[in-house]
Amino acid sequence: MPGEHSRAFAPGRVNLIGEHTDYNQGLALPFAIADGVTVSAQAEPVAMPGEEARVSAFARDLGEHDEFALADPQPAAGWRAFVRGTVAELARAGFPLVGASLEISGGLPPGAGLSSSAALEVALCLVLAELGSQGESDVAKELDRTELARLCARVENDWVGAHTGLLDQLASLYGAPDAALCIDFRVLAVEQVPLRLGDWRLVVLDSGERHVHASSGYNQRRAECVRACQLLGVESLRDADSVAVAGLPEPLRRRAQHVLGENERVLEAVAALRADDLAAIGALLDASHESLRDCYEVSTPAVEDAVASLRQASAVGARVIGGGFGGSVLGLFAPGGKPPAGACDVRPGAGARLIDS
Ligand code: GLA
Repeated sequence: MPGEHSRAFAPGRVNLIGEHTDYNQGLALPFAIADGVTVSAQAEPVAMPGEEARVSAFARDLGEHDEFALADPQPAAGWRAFVRGTVAELARAGFPLVGASLEISGGLPPGAGLSSSAALEVALCLVLAELGSQGESDVAKELDRTELARLCARVENDWVGAHTGLLDQLASLYGAPDAALCIDFRVLAVEQVPLRLGDWRLVVLDSGERHVHASSGYNQRRAECVRACQLLGVESLRDADSVAVAGLPEPLRRRAQHVLGENERVLEAVAALRADDLAAIGALLDASHESLRDCYEVSTPAVEDAVASLRQASAVGARVIGGGFGGSVLGLFAPGGKPPAGACDVRPGAGARLIDS
């Protein structure tokens, strides 16, 4: 029966360039990838009137369960915080919800810098909204995807404790085959930019080091940017100029300098993609990595090893992606280039969607 089952897939993302710019009202150029998270849901109506509706969840890859009252999810740790937070934020935003049992599965390792958490939040939103609509509306078409991204960011910020921006969720929600997404976070505009790889290859290589943004240096970096803005008297680093930034105390000067330079690199990358100049993208990836390592200081020895192994394999550009402090690195290879063992090809794919259950 319509409305009793629902299934959704939400992809992870790779950010081609534009790192730590999203919460600074800057620019980024991510794309959705083929791997992601699938959530299947079955409505569990209450047996007796007055009985409390409940949500149960099973994380297949971890072999772990959770269960809580639909009307009153309590804070929890780990993956449970994402599920409870998404249910609570959907309810707070006025989505009609029903009791449900959920099953979560997917091929994205958590903490590997490919946005497993955003993919989980987004897939949960789609299935829960669909179940709650009881099959009466075309949820996937009618949802405001930008509003959904904001809702998911509240889950990260308020339930998980990671003060992340909107990059991952917007990439997962707006992904498109053969296109990177140029996102302007000041106005939340998303524009598709054709990403034609031809015989070139983009690969990700896992550094093997896992991050948890709630406890890594991520929140500290964000706080440093806020402090830099206060000292500069601007609302966001998007409004900062390089002369004023040069006068900031360290390490704020380097943090702000990274953000200003990274926004410029995004614009240059968009121009390079439009000109099919992938060699120029390689140079921009290297420049971004240097800035993330030296100015933003989000690299680690394991990340540096992974970048070095891509470069030794003749990558024309390589850099840490996502929040850093571990996770994956991205490498670009010219035709005929041979990525090292363990590297996985990535290319732009479609965004989050409901799938036949
Ligand atoms: C993580 C966050 C994003 C973004 C990146 C860095 O992926 O979730 O919001 O800040 O780090 O660009």
